[in-house]
Amino acid sequence: MIREFHPISLRRRNSFGVDQQAARLVEFETPEDLRTFFAAGTPERWTVLAGGNNILFTEDYNGVLLTPVARQIAVLGDDGSEVRVRADAGVEWDDLVEWAVERGLWGIENLSLIPGKAGAAPVQNIGAYGCEAKDVIRRVEMFCVETGALLTLDAAHCGFGYRESVFKHDLKGRVIITAVEIALSHTPQPRLGYGDVEREVKARGGVTLRNIREAICSIRRAKLPDPAVLGNAGSFFKNPVVEAAVAERLLAEYPEMPHYPAPEGRVKLAAGWLIDRAGMKGHREGSVGVHERQALVLVNYGGAMGGEVIAFARRVQEKVREKFGIGIDTEVNIL
Ligand code: EPU
Repeated sequence: MIREFHPISLRRRNSFGVDQQAARLVEFETPEDLRTFFAAGTPERWTVLAGGNNILFTEDYNGVLLTPVARQIAVLGDDGSEVRVRADAGVEWDDLVEWAVERGLWGIENLSLIPGKAGAAPVQNIGAYGCEAKDVIRRVEMFCVETGALLTLDAAHCGFGYRESVFKHDLKGRVIITAVEIALSHTPQPRLGYGDVEREVKARGGVTLRNIREAICSIRRAKLPDPAVLGNAGSFFKNPVVEAAVAERLLAEYPEMPHYPAPEGRVKLAAGWLIDRAGMKGHREGSVGVHERQALVLVNYGGAMGGEVIAFARRVQEKVREKFGIGIDTEVNIL
């Protein structure tokens, strides 16, 4: 069933809490709803607004926002080791993680508490604590706007990379994700190698699925602001991936700089560290600031408009470029 709102304030529909408006917002449940909607003509401007956790509206949106609201989770098959699970696009990602942990199914526990909907997970290939959505996603169901067909894309064709996928590029504006299919495992496969995870798991009494989930939740809560309290969109910037020679030049000057191997001999740097060392951590201008505990996150202290946030973000980027000669890209979708 379709539900329409026009116009609508977006303040409660984006985790940044910016008070911009949209001309029209349409909530849909099924691919059939989308077929009905597009049969009436494709609007000049439209995009998907799922949980609104990774988006910044820099101004009012004068088009149509399409919001998935279907929330079913279903087991498609279980061969005793691997369990195939299908989640509608509107399922809250962390509800899916809790669902899996309750059933003793391994694979997404490290992605606990990532805000957002399941349908958004493949778009930016969400990741945390040594795990990415691409590790479990097998197929993505999507509605093709041009043909009205419901298509299934295998993971191999999703173009997954670090916070990247085909949905941000070739398929942008052409498809709408309606469900994701993931593969979980009955066999324990703990991944404790990242940061404080192992210590926090031990402190909870050892390696169980539940303890890993709780450890990750606690680490995230300690570092990342709760959008219900302080508007934010998680990491505002992506960690930059640079040529080895660039990393070497910086390491000669800053031997303590965090760096991680990336594909093709490149090196991933920590944008949070760069922003921090550029002196911007905790820096505030009016209603917008760099979070005090995690420099990758920009926060809305209340009443910020999208234009202020993006202007502030540009200044953060300039500071990092001035100090380190490195460009950091935004991770959030800027509209
Ligand atoms: N660091 C600082 N100062 C800061 C922040 C970080 O010095 O203010 C340093 C840390 O000490 C560490 C390094 O930078 O040595 C990396 O920091 P951290 O491990 O906290 O992770 P991150 O690179 O800042 C990424 C993801 C997060 C994810 C964490 C944990 C991106 C853009 N961000 O952050 O994802 O939770 O790893 O896996 O890749 C998100 O995408 O919204 C998000 C929160």
